[in-house]
Amino acid sequence: MRPFVIIIKNSHEIKKMREAGKLAAQLLNYIEPYVRAGVSTQYLNDCCKEFTKKHGAKSAPLHYNGFPKSICTSINDVVCHGIPSEKEILKDGDIVNIDVTVILDGYHGDTSRTFMIGNVSEEVKKLVNHTEKSLYRGIEAVKPGKYLYEVGKAIEKYIFKFGYSIVRDFGGHGIGKEFHEDPFVFHHFTVKNKIRMKEGMTFTIEPMINMGKSDAVNISMLDGWTVRTADGSPSAQFEHTVLVMSEGVEILTKI
Ligand code: MF3
Ligand code: CO
Ligand code: CO
Repeated sequence: MRPFVIIIKNSHEIKKMREAGKLAAQLLNYIEPYVRAGVSTQYLNDCCKEFTKKHGAKSAPLHYNGFPKSICTSINDVVCHGIPSEKEILKDGDIVNIDVTVILDGYHGDTSRTFMIGNVSEEVKKLVNHTEKSLYRGIEAVKPGKYLYEVGKAIEKYIFKFGYSIVRDFGGHGIGKEFHEDPFVFHHFTVKNKIRMKEGMTFTIEPMINMGKSDAVNISMLDGWTVRTADGSPSAQFEHTVLVMSEGVEILTKI
């Protein structure tokens, strides 16, 4: 078994993480106007790939554990890891999570947002907006000396009042030279995250919130990646890469 190691970043590494985070944030901003009805997720993939390359970076998802594309595009009941495709065309009323990760000078920046296409139902709009809010509640709970489970606790406290459920099988993660480092970050309260946060830690927070009561997900046998809600209910997600600071937290994937 791989040993559990949380890599604390030094000031040089933090500088690199800031640069990678900023580029990932710029990439999401760049793609936003293209995320419209009638566009294929393959087209979004190609635009992101090109932008990343132009800025001297690499798309981390491409060939990561065999993932075939440069970004993840997860529509409606797809929880995460949706694979962009020429055949998949965004349509009015859809929600789509675009998850981008860049590698700049050896360091990763990972961020995602759920975009709404045209006229999205009020119910689904609320799911998306509450999911984004829950990410910020989680981020606000980051503080050196506190337990990491405070992040999940804050998300839970916010999200359960709407009757939504939190996906448990996928979570946030340490990030740095590696795409996925320790620790695994749960988005609900669990003693498995009884780990003290420390200045210099970098990890992602990326709650996946399902509208349905059921939080079960199943991995499609078709492509080996696409994760859907078991009950077909819509799922939303937002992600930032954060740095634990001496006094609190810095969002690295922000411009
Ligand atoms: N970006 C995703 C995350 O937030 C991971 C995607 S892995 C891939 O952790 F292989 F599907 F790209
Ligand atoms: Co991501
Ligand atoms: Co991530």
